[in-house]
Amino acid sequence: MRIVELAGETDLAGWRRAARGLRLEGVAPDEVCWSVARADLFGAPDHAATGVAAPADRALTVPPALISLAEGVACHRSPERFALLYRLLWRLRDEPRLLELRTDGDIAAALAMAKAVARASHKMKAFVRFRRVDGARPETFVAWFEPPHRVVERTAPFFARRFANLRFSILTPDLCCFWDGRALRFEPGVAKPDVPTVDDLESYWLTYYASIFNPARLKVAAMQSEMPKRYWRNLPEATLIPGLIDGARQRSEAMMANEASEPARRLPARPTAPVGPANENRTPDTLDEVAAGVMACRRCDLWRDATRGVAGEGAGRARLMLVGEQPGDLEDLAGRPFIGPAGQVLDRALAAAGVPRQDAYVTNAVKHFKHEPRGKRRLHKTPGTGEVTACRWWLDHERRIVGPRVIVALGGTAALAVFGRPMPIMKSRGRPFALDGGAQAVITVHPSFLRRLPDERAKAEAYRAFVDDLAAAHALLA
Ligand code: URA
Repeated sequence: MRIVELAGETDLAGWRRAARGLRLEGVAPDEVCWSVARADLFGAPDHAATGVAAPADRALTVPPALISLAEGVACHRSPERFALLYRLLWRLRDEPRLLELRTDGDIAAALAMAKAVARASHKMKAFVRFRRVDGARPETFVAWFEPPHRVVERTAPFFARRFANLRFSILTPDLCCFWDGRALRFEPGVAKPDVPTVDDLESYWLTYYASIFNPARLKVAAMQSEMPKRYWRNLPEATLIPGLIDGARQRSEAMMANEASEPARRLPARPTAPVGPANENRTPDTLDEVAAGVMACRRCDLWRDATRGVAGEGAGRARLMLVGEQPGDLEDLAGRPFIGPAGQVLDRALAAAGVPRQDAYVTNAVKHFKHEPRGKRRLHKTPGTGEVTACRWWLDHERRIVGPRVIVALGGTAALAVFGRPMPIMKSRGRPFALDGGAQAVITVHPSFLRRLPDERAKAEAYRAFVDDLAAAHALLA
């Protein structure tokens, strides 16, 4: 009996080296015992410990279809996976068309394993939920996940692409992966750690999940097969599911009992003030009237796809006003400006510049979220000049009512709204401009610009310059 010890649970390269050597030596499948070194990945033996070295001078052709099947099978938890792959390799000599025989027992087993692994990878993409690590600098996110098969290594690049600008760790019992914005690093698995369970993002996600849950479309069996119960314990929204299911029947009955409604106008949140020119053209005297008017605003078409209009918030007679571009995805759901990822950067930079956010008034050039759907996501779209111009009505009234002495324009769209014309951001940043009415304006970049910079050094420099601009604006108040 030949004993082969592979370096790790998914050591396909080691299996290929050993299998090639054994095959060329003519060692039959039932004479080989495949095992995995206990140290898994670290301190594991190299392939010399397998005792199998492929003769360098003899060729063995392995069909690419077997290699690609093996990539999936090697990640399956079955202890038989490597033996099964070797059996396929062995049989291919006499049965060159073996891989096409889907009814063959070995082929069917291998295909089922590869399918289960692909499904586990898909589940990981769908069910990993990141939580912000409290107080971590730089901002860091962590997720705990228990994959049914060993899919962390093959799935991690998806998260690195999707969340390129975040620092994150995905902890699992098999393997942990870490992304620092540049490279993925893997370390051995851990027992379930104390991953923070609640944070701001999570509560917005819960609100969102409950608001998109449609009782009339509830199919419990289909939902449970797509989102099996074993994933529920790590999903924040899972706590809502039993209650939503319980309430679904009553809500569906209530829906049926109601009179037929107009086709959806895609405005989930009802305006708090009458809609139309009578309201949107009425000059607001207070910030509450601005907020009500923004909710009812039809000055451009952006209201159609947004959840709600988001007016500014902050000190009613603030001496400093910060103007952003438009609400993002989270702001649109929560109805407050700068509470999402760009808001986090802004908050951090304000603190570094010694500017208390609560003393400022924070608003946006455009009050509705402009976006386009991409799958289940809503991707930000830059508002056009027409939309900025239409929305200046509200910004001008906010400026009149709050009466700031200094206005900071965060990025090009904000500068366009504050000055009424395009301004070159990099050339004008950090210095004061006199505005009509006696206030001064300082232009700087938008915090999202900092998040998008791919290079860590450039990011750190751009962040420092951003803090300097905010501090320069604050100094004008002295
Ligand atoms: N970006 C903005 O410009 N404003 C917000 O409120 C959020 C993100």
